[in-house]
Amino acid sequence: MDRILIRGGNRLSGRIAISGAKNAALTLMPCALLTDEPLTLRNLPRLADVDSFGHLLNQLGVSTMVEGAHPTDFGRVMTMRAARLTSTVAPYDIVRKMRASILVLGPLLGRMGEATVSLPGGCAIGNRPIDLHLKALDSMGAEIEIAAGYVKATAPGGRLKGGRVSFPVVSVGATENAVMAAVTAQGTTVIENAAREPEIVDLCNLLTAMGAVIDGVGTETLTIEGRDRLHGATYQVMPDRIEAGSYACAAAITHGALELFGARANDMRATLAALSEAGITVEERPRSVYIEASNGIAPLTLSTAPYPGFATDMQAQFMAMLTRANGASVLTETIFENRYMHVPELARMGADIQVRGHAAVVRGVDRLVGAPVMATDLRASMSLILAGLAADGETQVNRVYHLDRGYERLEEKLQGVGADIERVGDG
Ligand code: EPZ
Repeated sequence: MDRILIRGGNRLSGRIAISGAKNAALTLMPCALLTDEPLTLRNLPRLADVDSFGHLLNQLGVSTMVEGAHPTDFGRVMTMRAARLTSTVAPYDIVRKMRASILVLGPLLGRMGEATVSLPGGCAIGNRPIDLHLKALDSMGAEIEIAAGYVKATAPGGRLKGGRVSFPVVSVGATENAVMAAVTAQGTTVIENAAREPEIVDLCNLLTAMGAVIDGVGTETLTIEGRDRLHGATYQVMPDRIEAGSYACAAAITHGALELFGARANDMRATLAALSEAGITVEERPRSVYIEASNGIAPLTLSTAPYPGFATDMQAQFMAMLTRANGASVLTETIFENRYMHVPELARMGADIQVRGHAAVVRGVDRLVGAPVMATDLRASMSLILAGLAADGETQVNRVYHLDRGYERLEEKLQGVGADIERVGDG
């Protein structure tokens, strides 16, 4: 297994190109199932999860072709074509490795009138149920059966019916599955308390480009008029707001200055507001966001919340940054029940963090000390990298396959702005 070694203490400065958004790519790719025409996605990030999703689509009979990057993008171009699907089963061995596979459920139902998808199971940050996904599809007439670890869904008569979906809890994935099921249902679907993440706006924009009729994009109420069929499209994946926020924290924790090229400030208002409150300079430029930290980090009180609130996917990275603040911060994680796996690892590096229920009190320390640490989940891994960048001495981050799921060319991007970082294999 690869490890990443960091010798901390360098002040980062320069430009980092922000890649296409992982969490947008993973909901845009299954849209290929909704048409028999080609769907081309530009600015796709080079990530393990994107590759896994491509393999899943291949299993279903979708052809995928990857080309080089478009001259104006950083990511790859992938053309997918579901001319004729050969399977409607998403098998356990794929789903267990990538829970976002559940996002084929809605489009498969919409296209084929049936779908059999392995239950994704939990992960390090929580048990990750899918009851809201199933409730949404049930509201559109799907018949759902759960047996032997699989969800089997069928649309009576081969086509879902427009219905009213009202979510008791905001769920990104359940909203995405509901939208992808509704765009070819018979009649109109109203989705209430829909998630409003920018990745969902990206999904609605792509589906609209494919001929879908969606009203209320970006709001908590979506009204979707089902179409008999959708056509192909070419679409550019939005920039990754979480990658951009993560590198903003890298600038902050190293008292550096980074230009996040391609970042879209409008998608990351809560993150940028928190950085400004911590005394970090944030400058919005036409094609980038500039972050400079020259006079220390002020402590913060932050709670994660659904968009447009402070993103749960930014909590671990902010915690790393706040271990170096001038005072005590309080972070409260309200979305996932176990998203503090990075705390004991940060503590090994000298951080002073007390977790009490959903709250973590982070007392700033004068210095962090490099140590061997263990990555447990994607964003926790990034928080360990950030701490390593600021720590005295060498930090060794193990199990970096977690990182490769969500950060494209991480060490290359950080080397490019002055970090002393390298990846070593076990050989
Ligand atoms: C998406 O996960 C993201 N993943 C997550 O990013 C992100 O943390 C999360 O949204 C919240 O923003 C992708 O987009 C691939 P949810 P998702 O459904 O859709 C509960 C990362 O690091 N819930 O909004 O699975 C759930 O347990 C990853 O990039 C139910 O109870 O998140 C959680 O407590 C991690 N029943 C809350 O809702 C359901 O049916 C929010 O989950 C579904 C969810």
